[in-house]
Amino acid sequence: MDRRSFLKEAVIVSVAAGVAGTAMAAERYFPTKVDQSLFEGINRVKDAGQKSPLEKSHAPVITVPATVKAGEPFTVEVSIGEVLHPMGPVHWIEYIELGIGNEPAGRIDFQPRGYLKPKAVFTVVLPSDAAASGKVTLLARQRCNLHGLWEGSIDIALA
Ligand SMILES: [Fe+2]
Repeated sequence: MDRRSFLKEAVIVSVAAGVAGTAMAAERYFPTKVDQSLFEGINRVKDAGQKSPLEKSHAPVITVPATVKAGEPFTVEVSIGEVLHPMGPVHWIEYIELGIGNEPAGRIDFQPRGYLKPKAVFTVVLPSDAAASGKVTLLARQRCNLHGLWEGSIDIALA
């Protein structure tokens, strides 16, 4: 084998090894087959009247009073899914975040062992200048290790 053929073969072998290594790493991190399109952006419910099983178990459900008073604490409960998402070492919710509009308010991280259910309760106080229009949007986000980032929102009135 001449030098040129040897180098060409060495490059092909190293590229093939790199591709195989990447594929093996993906299988290690995702022991089950995943839909990669779920990891390309933020997932939301497409039609609230006809939720898919994936939407029912992943879209954050926000429970909050319809109207709150400025300066008074109120409770915001965020559940992951209408049917609570499973929590275990292979498939779990990594975190739940709450935002007041686009401003991050807080976050709770979960571990994969599954001791906790994917539900979070936040106590929130909004100042009177939080909503000039009298309306505030609460945003909840969660990340599932196999199904990506999901977002839900709800509008409340600030009196
Ligand atoms: Fe999931």
